[in-house]
Amino acid sequence: MRRRLVAGNWKMNGSVAAVRDWCATVVQAAAEAPVDIALFPPYPLLAQAMQSLAGTNVQFGAQDVSMHASGAYTGEVSAAMLIEAGCRQVLVGHSERRSYHGETDEQVAAKFAVALDAGLVPVLCIGETLAQREGGETDAVVGRQLRAVLERVGGDGLAKGVIAYEPVWAIGTGRTASPMQAQAVHENIRGILRDANATMAGSMRILYGGSVNGDNAAQLFEMPDIDGALVGGASLNAREFLRIVRTA
Ligand code: 13P
Repeated sequence: MRRRLVAGNWKMNGSVAAVRDWCATVVQAAAEAPVDIALFPPYPLLAQAMQSLAGTNVQFGAQDVSMHASGAYTGEVSAAMLIEAGCRQVLVGHSERRSYHGETDEQVAAKFAVALDAGLVPVLCIGETLAQREGGETDAVVGRQLRAVLERVGGDGLAKGVIAYEPVWAIGTGRTASPMQAQAVHENIRGILRDANATMAGSMRILYGGSVNGDNAAQLFEMPDIDGALVGGASLNAREFLRIVRTA
């Protein structure tokens, strides 16, 4: 049985006060929740997350990590720095990084490896664009994104992370993948995992992301291969986020 994970990706939103308020609301409810909960705020808000979430069962992490260990990489943040900032997890390969910052499958795989080496749990984001879906390329795209990481870290390495399937056309659009559409891709992902390592396939969590909210979460969580959610917009509001946690 896989324990569900509901995670909030704040993207470039929020403030120190917003983290403090969000944590105050979520921490209480989280204490009894039979699911894992995580927050991914922007870098400068990690210090407040560390303070507000110390001693609670809510984890937090960053939205990206450098593939380099240290050096002249202005604007980048290393995995070791994230560990020092209290992070336990980190997102890698979010579609907004892939599309706006040109991150390639190979770079994402390098980031996944660096995060693992540092002891972080990488949350690998994968997903197809609308054009790719309409062109019938969904499985091929998702498979390519996943295999790039598998080739880099192997089945045992991948098993230490989490996968988030986020169809690009469903992110921030209010257009969620239907539970059946999401399940079909999750099943395909689990099939690829099974080919790599049967034991890990059963235990690895595959989250769905893309316009998840308190109204549509329950139906998504009914699907056998959906093990939680990576929530963007709806995670900014602690009460809405908790509605999703409760359905999980
Ligand atoms: P939305 O929930 O705002 O669609 O964002 C999803 C996402 O990108 C989470 O990483």
